[in-house]
Amino acid sequence: MHSLIPLLRPDRRQPLHLPVHGRGRALPPALKRLLRQAPGSWDLPELPEIGGPLESEGAVAESQTQLASVLGVAGCWFGVNGATGLLQAALSALAGPGQAVLLPRNAHRSLIAACVMGGIRPVFLPVPFLSDRGHPGAMSEPCLEQALMALPSIPEAIVAAVLVHPTYHGYASDPTPLIAALHRCGLPVLVDEAHGTHFAFSGGEDLPRSSLHAGADLVVHSLHKSAPGLGQTAVLWLQGMRVSSEAVQASLLRFQTSSPSALLLASCEATLHWMLTSSWERLLQRRLQEAHQIAARLRAAGLPLGSSDDPLRLILVTAEQGMSGLDADAWFMQRGLIAELPEPLCLTFCLGLASQRGLAQRMQQLWRKLQLSQPCSGRLEPLLVPPLETSSTPELLPALAVRAQACELSLQDSGGRIAAEMICPYPPGIPLLIPGERIESDRLEWLLSQHRRWPALVPGKVKVLAEEPQVQLG
Ligand SMILES: Cc1ncc(COP(=O)(O)O)c(C=O)c1O
Repeated sequence: MHSLIPLLRPDRRQPLHLPVHGRGRALPPALKRLLRQAPGSWDLPELPEIGGPLESEGAVAESQTQLASVLGVAGCWFGVNGATGLLQAALSALAGPGQAVLLPRNAHRSLIAACVMGGIRPVFLPVPFLSDRGHPGAMSEPCLEQALMALPSIPEAIVAAVLVHPTYHGYASDPTPLIAALHRCGLPVLVDEAHGTHFAFSGGEDLPRSSLHAGADLVVHSLHKSAPGLGQTAVLWLQGMRVSSEAVQASLLRFQTSSPSALLLASCEATLHWMLTSSWERLLQRRLQEAHQIAARLRAAGLPLGSSDDPLRLILVTAEQGMSGLDADAWFMQRGLIAELPEPLCLTFCLGLASQRGLAQRMQQLWRKLQLSQPCSGRLEPLLVPPLETSSTPELLPALAVRAQACELSLQDSGGRIAAEMICPYPPGIPLLIPGERIESDRLEWLLSQHRRWPALVPGKVKVLAEEPQVQLG
């Protein structure tokens, strides 16, 4: 008896979620052709002529080398375990046990996992918080400069820095001065550009600058969140002299599967090759134009759209209608519109790369229906700003905290204790609490407020260390 397979059949619901290929409509032409071959014929191992991301011979190596050369960078590696796998490999190439890295507070949970696995100390940099939307904004230059001047004193050497550009919601500032400031501190910079692959493959002026063109040393692109490839595909780029290709290779070898899927590798190749063609550029420009038109029509019709630096992300600030994004999500889902990211104050839709003709009208109609069925009784309260305005580091190394003896407490009773686990609503996968952090009273108040706003995703309990640690590491 199957329970998953029937759910994968085409249906009439409108996909406004990731992957951005819109259930196949915007897949690269070469990949569509491949998928029309006899089922399974493409499922091959690393035969000599095919190779893999870490082989020096074979088609994959050739593609990676060609792409690196076309983009003018030193290295390119395809990834089949999402941006997650490549971010973890990249971070572990930069830092190891006894070392520290600068991470923005809105870092994805995969980077925290890399710190746990690698015994790395994260030193968090604050990012602006948009309390009327209830989520982080983009790191700004003043914010970074201020944070760098006020770094906590820690025993470990800080050896690298990470930036997230753009955020899940498409917020972005110019990465050039941020990367330059970190380079002035002598730090190599890894950029999580999972949501901004299209920034690097756009000839137009409409999108923010890619960190690949702004001097980042390592950049991870998701090829399904912001490029038209299959789920799980991603690419890692290396440039400059600060990070060695050998260190990246060795790290990938530790993290990568020994049987990478030929289909997913073909998807990486087809996606990146297609994104270098003029037909891709035309498609992207059409989608951006369509996205602007959709947003303009929805704004004109009175829908509360928040601005984003990526026109392909539509942020509906449902709080203005007195409704949480989680409730709005369920409401739209029942009526055939599947959004990407429900949160307490907003619902974010990904327009993606397939045409969304008719969407503005459909959304307007649904919004009117929603207003009639759920009359607004006032705007929802903004979310509390997190008490994370300064740089900080967990009191105990996350690698030690997750392995220490722990007990589970209700969140209410966890004040003053050290967290033994992460609290992280998913999506968006941005942790609210990191293993090893002490739950001070202002943090507790904020976590409780988060729990009240999305109880299903921010549980009312947490694992904490059973005893105070004997060895203080910070
Ligand atoms: C900012 C960011 N980075 C990395 C990832 C991980 O990407 P993947 O799901 O492709 O592993 C995500 C996933 O949501 C993300 O939002």
